[in-house]
Formats: sequence, structure tokens, C-alpha cells
Amino acid sequence: MGKIKKTKKKIEIEYFSLAKSIDYTQTRIVDANLNAVHDNRLVSFFDESYISAQYKILKTQILHKTKNEGLNTILVTSAGDGEGKSTTAANLAISLAREVVQTVLLVDADLRNPSLHHLFGIEPASGLSDYLLKNISLSELLINPGINKLTLLPGHRKFSDSAEIIGSPKMIELIHEMKNRYQDRYIIFDSPPLLGCADTLILSKYVDGVILVVEYGKTLNDQIKKSMELLKERNLIGTILNKAVIPKKQAYAYGY
Ligand SMILES: Nc1ncnc2c1ncn2[C@@H]1O[C@H](COP(=O)(O)OP(=O)(O)OP(=O)(O)O)[C@@H](O)[C@H]1O
Ligand SMILES: [Mg+2]
Repeated sequence: MGKIKKTKKKIEIEYFSLAKSIDYTQTRIVDANLNAVHDNRLVSFFDESYISAQYKILKTQILHKTKNEGLNTILVTSAGDGEGKSTTAANLAISLAREVVQTVLLVDADLRNPSLHHLFGIEPASGLSDYLLKNISLSELLINPGINKLTLLPGHRKFSDSAEIIGSPKMIELIHEMKNRYQDRYIIFDSPPLLGCADTLILSKYVDGVILVVEYGKTLNDQIKKSMELLKERNLIGTILNKAVIPKKQAYAYGY
């Protein structure tokens, strides 16, 4: 009995110290590189184009679907490579952070190919995998890329076999902590391709909702079906058709 109590106490203490390290007032500010942000299509950063307006609509729909039910951990994925997961996750996070109330934590949970820091033009010295595998504290990792209320938990080294790390008790505990500590915070997870590895399916078990990105003209019907099948027990809160051809006049602002 005594042993169980001790363990419980230890977990509580760990949660407490985790929470302290997700303190936004202590987060290091590393301003994003505006050229990188522009070149990598983080259009919500500039908030002017037709595409940015689309992200605003997406944000509004997500707020509508999640807010009243307290769903705040959202995973962005797609069936295959290069379909726009990271771009969508980052734009959605920026767009949500621009709302009055909520803060946003954008997590690079693609341990195979972490890229969010590149999108912001930031070179972190360490990332999520260092937190999970070494004794590096979260506060050393968190970065504010120059947007109020947005915090990035970046990736760093690439892992070819990351499913075990992503499904580790430390990662699950981290998600639990992120989710429960502050109610006005959204946590957006970028992830590897759903059909390419086990990581995303594992992660999807611990989040409140999943957004599936589909690339116009590339993602095959079979891949969409297979993805839907894999996610059938999860809360699929939306599907995004990415890279769709849009009228030239509207696309002008960012050259899409
Ligand atoms: N709506 C869009 N229109 C045009 N290009 C886009 C759009 N969304 C993403 N891209 C481009 O597609 C490429 C892949 O995007 P991104 O890195 O977001 O995909 P991903 O699914 O995260 O890739 P990976 O599977 O490698 O992690 C990038 O060059 C990105 O700038
Ligand atoms: Mg990506």
C-alpha cells in the first residue's frame, strides 16, 4: 500500500514540475525568420492572403467543433509524404494564437522528419526527442517564434524508428499534462504520414481529435479509405483538401 502511495505522489510531483516548465512567461523568444516563414507558406503569419483567409475559416470550424466540449489536443496528419501536414499544422496554430483568448502549443511530433523549426527558420539546439530520451527539461526546448501566445516545441534529430519513443510513458504523460493544465490552450501536433509508420496511429490514441490533410490530385482514393479505416475509432474532426487549384486573382497575394 505504502509503495502505491509513494508512486502516486511522485507522479503528482512530476506533473507539477512539468507544468512549471510549460510556463509561457518563461519561454525563450527566438524570432522567426520572415523570409523562411514566407517561403514556407506560413501565410497566417502575415494574415493577408486568400489562403490565410482559408486558415481562418478552418480555425473557426475547429473552434466550433472543439471548444464547448473541451477538446484541445489536435493531431494533424495525412496518408503520405509531403501532402502538407506541417504547413497546415503551423498555419492552424498561428491562426488560433491570433484569437483573443487561447494560447497555442505547436508540437513537432514527427520524430522521423521534424520540420516545423525549418518552416519558422529557427535552428533549435535540441528538441522533443531530447526531452523524451535525455534529462533535458521542457523549458530549455520551448520557443516563442515572435507571435504572441504561440509556443513551439520543436523537433531536432531524425529517428528512423521512433514509434517506441512516441508511445513511451513519458510522451503520454506529457500529452496528458499539456491537455489538462490550462483549459484555454490548444495543442496542435504535427505528425509523420499515417500510412508510413506506426507513430501517428499511436499518437492519435492520446489526442482529442485528428485532422486529415488530403493533397488535391495526389492522395489516392485507396489511401484516403485506408486512412479513414485506421482512424475509425478516433475523433476525426475534419479533412482538409490541400493544394487545390484556386482562382488566380485570389491566389495572387502569395503566389499560390
Ligand atoms: N497549400 C499549399 N499549396 C502549395 N504548396 C504547399 C501547400 N501546402 C504545403 N505546400 C508545400 O508542399 C511541400 C510539403 O509540405 P509539408 O512539409 O507541409 O508536407 P508534410 O506532409 O508535412 O511533409 P512530410 O511528410 O515530409 O512531413 C512544402 O514544399 C510546402 O511548402
Ligand atoms: Mg511534415
